[in-house]
This record gives sequence, C-alpha cells and structure tokens, in this order.
Amino acid sequence: MDQFAHRRAQLAETIGDGVAIIPAGREATRNDDVHYEFRQDSNFYFLTGFTEPDAVAVLHPSHPTEPYTLFVRPRDREMEIWNGYRAGTEGAVTTFGADQAYPINDLSDKLKDHLIGTETVFYRIGGPLDSTVLGMIQGLEPLATRYGKTIPTRIVDPAPALAELRLRKSDAELEHLRRACDVSVLGHQAAMRFATPGALEYQVQSAMESVFRQEGSPRNGYPSIVASGPNATILHYTENRRQIQDGDLVLIDAAAECGYFSSDITRTFPANGTFTAPQRAVYEVVLAAQRASIARAAVGTTHRDMHETAKQVLTEGLIDLGLLPNGIEESLSMHHYREYFMHGTGHWLGMDVHDAGSVQVGDDSRVLEVGMSFTVEPGIYIDPDRETVDFALVEYDLDARYERRYRMGRDAALKLEAEENKDARSITHEIPAEFRGIGIRIEDDIAMTHSGAVNLTGALAVDPDDVEALCQS
Ligand code: GLY
Ligand code: MN
Ligand code: MN
Repeated sequence: MDQFAHRRAQLAETIGDGVAIIPAGREATRNDDVHYEFRQDSNFYFLTGFTEPDAVAVLHPSHPTEPYTLFVRPRDREMEIWNGYRAGTEGAVTTFGADQAYPINDLSDKLKDHLIGTETVFYRIGGPLDSTVLGMIQGLEPLATRYGKTIPTRIVDPAPALAELRLRKSDAELEHLRRACDVSVLGHQAAMRFATPGALEYQVQSAMESVFRQEGSPRNGYPSIVASGPNATILHYTENRRQIQDGDLVLIDAAAECGYFSSDITRTFPANGTFTAPQRAVYEVVLAAQRASIARAAVGTTHRDMHETAKQVLTEGLIDLGLLPNGIEESLSMHHYREYFMHGTGHWLGMDVHDAGSVQVGDDSRVLEVGMSFTVEPGIYIDPDRETVDFALVEYDLDARYERRYRMGRDAALKLEAEENKDARSITHEIPAEFRGIGIRIEDDIAMTHSGAVNLTGALAVDPDDVEALCQS
C-alpha cells in the first residue's frame, strides 16, 4: 500500500459508512489566461498524491465497487498543448490508484449515486463545492420524504480528523521535512555570505532561493521575508525592495519545500558582518530564549511549556536591557513583554508552514508526541519610531482576551479592551535610542523522534560569533 492509500485507509476509520468529498485546490487567475502559481491543496495531496487542479476525491469506504473515486480533468489534446499534461481518468486509476475515475464535469451526476443511501457527508463548508454539494443534498430531499430513502442529514468537517493524521508524521514524512530543512539551511548560508550593504533585499532573496532550486526544491514553503534595518520589525514583511544599509541587521525568514513538506527558518545577521553592541545584546536575549525553549522539547512537554519558557527568559532579558519598567512578575502578569514579543513561540510544521493540528485539546495544551514537528521562534521587535511606551498597569489573562476577540470580533473586543484600560494607571517608559528599529527573530525546526527532540535546522549558524564568521566568509 503506498503512503496515499495508507492515509485514505486511516481516514476511512473516521468516515465509517459515510462519504467524504475532498476538493483539490483551485487555480487563481492573475489576468486573462495567466494564473498565479498553482500548488495543490495539502489535504487533497495528502490523500491522493494528485497535483492537478480541478479535481475532487470521493472516499466512500463502504461502497462495494467505488470506495475511492477521483473526478479529474479529462485528457484534451488542445488544452494539454496550451497548459500541460493531464493524467486524465485513465491516469487517475492506473497511476493514482482510484477505483474509478470520471471527468470532473460528471461530478454532479455521479456524486448523487454516492449520496443516496448515505447519512453522513464529510465535507468542509466554505470550499469550492458548497453550492454543488448543498444543492445536491437539497435536490435529493423528495427521495427521503416521499420514498423513505436515506439521504445525507449530517455534514461533518473532515479537517479536524485530517489534522490529527497530519500532526503525527511518519518516518517517510519526516524524511521529506528533513530534506526541506537541509536545503533551506544551504540557502540561508548562501544569503548570509551574499548579503552586504548596498545590496537590495530581493537580490539577497535571489541568492538564497537560487540555492533552494539548485538543491532540489521546486518552490518555497511560503513567501520569503528578507527584511533589513527597520523592516525587520514588521513580522510578515515581504516587499523585499529596500537597499541594505551599512550597520543594518537583516532578518531572513524563508524556507524551501521538498516533497510537499516545508521548512521554516529565520536568522538575523549583520549585513556588514559585525553586530553592533546593542544588536548583539538583543540577539543574545532572543537566542537565550530560543535555546531554553528548545531544551524543553521532549515527549510529554506541552506546546504551552515551550512558549512559557521562551517568554520567561525573553522577558528577563528585556528587563536587563532596560526595555521594561517593572520586574519579572509584573512584566509577565501585565504582559508588558508583548510590546516587543507579540507572537507565539512556535507552530506545527509539515505540509503547510503553519501546519494542521490544534495546539489545544479541550482545556489542555497539546502534549508533544513522537512524529510531531514544530518551530521555535522567539523574537524581539523594537519600534523604530517610538521614543516612549505607555505600559498599562493591568493584569489580565491573555488567552481569555484572545478568545474574546474571536468571539466578539476584533474591533468590538479592542474597544472593550480600551474601555477596561481607561482608568488604569500606566507607566511611561523611555526606549533607549540605541535599540530602536532592531528586529530579531531566530527560528529553528524541531522534530520529535524515537531518539528524542531533534533540531532539523541546527546546522545553520546561530551563535553570534558563528553568524559573524559566516557573514564574513
Ligand atoms: N514563516 C512564517 C512563520 O515563521 O511563522
Ligand atoms: Mn518563519
Ligand atoms: Mn514559523
């Protein structure tokens, strides 16, 4: 059984006597007949290995002859001359292991046969087939009301079950991830050697990405962030157009995808090869937080433990640097560190850079298990323009605040937060000028294996002396 068949068999346990309808990704038009680069939807690829758009997989494990049906674009000489090879219905069976395959335009007709007699449909609402699936189920209603037939009465999102499968990587899956990490390390090394004052950010990007391609990665796992100087304080900066100045730090968050698995690496380094004293001081704090958090990674540790550790060490460092007005307890309970470290310490990593899987299971933080992979990426970002910060002296529960944002909507929740802080005392704290505009993140990829937590990107220089040596080489 190939890995895709194995995954379908795993999902079949959830599907039971229901039917799962899993659509492929869709091409997005850029203009006229030009499309944005297409990359298959991860869940669809996970189950099928099929990389073409305009396809639908129907999994019906209890069906006697068609437990696995693929609907695909049919062979079409003219369209293939213009746009490339298609596997067609024949290839869907012979190469991709479908029990049956039909042209995608037959979906409405053929899908009905699977839905009649089925109570539960696994389909993620909000996808491209909403009107097809919902319309079809509605159309079947007379079969139930007049003739007593079974038709779908429950629509269940398959994504959580798929996420549980994707969260625990097999050895073969970890091998893809490992390769993506190795290639990404090589690209980062090339970028650190190449970057120099005067270069444009996108030129550094090109030096890195050309190594990704040369080393066998067909595309990036996500758009590269090459952020110099104050741009490093913008978390998702992707413009990459600035000219690098002498004395700048360069933050690169970029990674290659290999075998549909993505790495996710960040390094921050001095463009001219030598950290200034304030840059190095901030760097040391981020690195200490990252190392402490990685040292916690073990089977049985929770996702939350990893973050709490990074947060604690980072906050102590911020206090030592003079960036926070209070001691450790208040800085944590009032979440003052969030002025500089406003994101989590990591996320699951796999087929998608922010990979499938919840970090919380019920009321508890997810416990790390063998096969899980994730990033550890603390950072400090100091606003280039702010000379002072007003820190509200209010203790609050950060998780409760965020949960409220999702419940109420961000605008309403922010209004309420402002209201709650209205009468609170605050401290105005001056940000030492030498730190303004410094943005530093350090990000590595960890896999939980039978022999413990492994840093898959640990080969890339991270100690500040090693980073300088690499930049100067
Ligand atoms: N590259 C996206 C992230 O670090 O989360
Ligand atoms: Mn990243
Ligand atoms: Mn990340």
